[in-house]
This record gives sequence, structure tokens and C-alpha cells, in this order.
Amino acid sequence: MVSRSSLLSTDAVVVTGAAQGLGRGIALHLAGRCAGLILWDVLASPLEKTAEDCRARGARVLTRVVDIGEEKQIHTAVEAISAELGDVFGLVNNAGIFPRISVLNSTTELWEKVLRVNLLGYYLTARMLAPGMLRAGRGAIVNVGSTAAFRGHPQGAHYAASKAGVVSFTKTLALELAPTVRVNCVNPGLSDTAQPRIAMSEDDICEAIQNIPMGRIGQPDDVARVVGFFLGPDASFITGQSIGVNGGAWMMP
Ligand SMILES: NC(=O)c1ccc[n+]([C@@H]2O[C@H](COP(=O)([O-])OP(=O)(O)OC[C@H]3O[C@@H](n4cnc5c(N)ncnc54)[C@H](O)[C@@H]3O)[C@@H](O)[C@H]2O)c1
Repeated sequence: MVSRSSLLSTDAVVVTGAAQGLGRGIALHLAGRCAGLILWDVLASPLEKTAEDCRARGARVLTRVVDIGEEKQIHTAVEAISAELGDVFGLVNNAGIFPRISVLNSTTELWEKVLRVNLLGYYLTARMLAPGMLRAGRGAIVNVGSTAAFRGHPQGAHYAASKAGVVSFTKTLALELAPTVRVNCVNPGLSDTAQPRIAMSEDDICEAIQNIPMGRIGQPDDVARVVGFFLGPDASFITGQSIGVNGGAWMMP
């Protein structure tokens, strides 16, 4: 039986961090599969480019510059969606930051900033969008975590801690919103976006590929297709789960 908590072509989905990288890939993938996309990011002009490309695939798209670490901005953005599109079916919590620095060289401010965007931001967007899903009697949330949630990550304790928080948050939120709204987590491995390329040279990436059984780094569409699966009818009996999309680089026990 297909549950009501499955994406239909008439539904609208919010994607955060949609200006570039995985979020852009997710938006493009969903553009042909749902009626409305609400795309949020802090980068206005690349966000408009994503929107334009999604519209070319037939989706109705609303964009807004929203910092997901700022509660008031999310509140205003959610009110704007309600006025224009009504309740949304889905949320893809994807926006994230990863400033590389060791624990001993880091600062309280940087730790708080990473946790604010990568974890508090996911909580705020879910807290403000889930009531509409519950009212509508259906919905799905997909959080983008990372393999860093499961392993030590030099120069990234703040990031790894935030992503472990995302995996844990996914489980509790899934329990609290079941059976109406499903909540799952996709954990990418090394993927071909600005985030790793800012910190890694081409040589670093070639070296990292040696440890990826599938012999390449991930592409945005690798992650986007799994996000689409979690939102869709084939995942109608799946909630509270995390899956790695990492070419086999990290295998959980
Ligand atoms: N690329 C990888 O190798 C990799 C691996 C594991 C997990 N991830 C996760 O995937 C997600 C997407 O990463 P990516 O590689 O596409 O990174 P990216 O840096 O290319 O894109 C991230 C997007 O999020 C936006 N963003 C940042 N802070 C924001 C905020 N406060 N509010 C709204 N938008 C904000 C950025 O402007 C950008 O458009 C992140 O959560 C990241 O941690 C990425």
C-alpha cells in the first residue's frame, strides 16, 4: 500500500542551500517530480540561476534569501509560502557549512556558527514547516547529514558533531511525527561540490578516490536521487533511517 506520506506531482517541497552543489542537484532532480519548489539560500544570484533551470523543467519555483541559522528569517519565509502556496509536502534540509580548523585553533564563535547553521537550522526549519504537514495529514522531511557523523574528521570536529546531531535529530523527529510525516537522513561521502574543493587540491581528491570502492567521488545527482526516493512512494514504509551515499567509502557495522 502506498502511504499518503509520499510525494505527488501536485506537491510543493522546500530545499535549503539550493544555490549550488548538492542542493542545486536536489532541486533540479525534484523539478520534474513536484509542482512547486521553494528554494532558500544565502546566495541570491546563483539561487536565481537554480530557479531558472528548475522552471525550465516545468516546476513553479519560489526563491528567497534565507539564512537558516536565523529564526526570524525562517518564520517570515514560511509565512510567505503559506500565503502563496499553502502547506508544503516536503522539506529537504541541505544547507551546511564546513570551515576547516582544528579544535585547538578554533573559537567558541566558530563552533557556535557551525552548530547554528548545520543543526539549529535543521531544527528550526522542521519545527516551522512540520505543523503544516501535520495539518495536511501528510509530509516527508529529508535531512542531509554526512559520513563525518560516524567518524573522526580532522579539522572538522564542529562539523562532525553537527552532522552526528542531524542523524540523531532525524530519529527523534521521525518518532514524534509518525505516522503522518516520515523523516529520513541521507549521508553523502566526498561529493563534487564547492564544499570539499575549497579545502582539497586535485591531488587530495585523487588520493581520496583511492579509498572509495566505486572509484570516483559522488555527484550531486547521486545524492539527489536518494533524496527523491525518500520523498517518494517507494519509501512509504521508511522513517527514522540514515543511508550513506558514498561509493562504499564508509560501511557501517
Ligand atoms: N560535498 C560533500 O563532499 C559533502 C559531503 C557530506 C555532506 N555534505 C553536506 O551536503 C550539504 C550540501 O553541501 P554542498 O557540498 O552542496 O556544499 P556547498 O557549499 O556547495 O553548498 C551549500 C549551500 O548551502 C548554502 N548555505 C550555507 N549556509 C547557509 C545558511 N546559513 N542558510 C542558507 N543557506 C546556506 C550555501 O550558500 C550553498 O549554496 C551540506 O549539508 C554538507 O554538509 C557535503
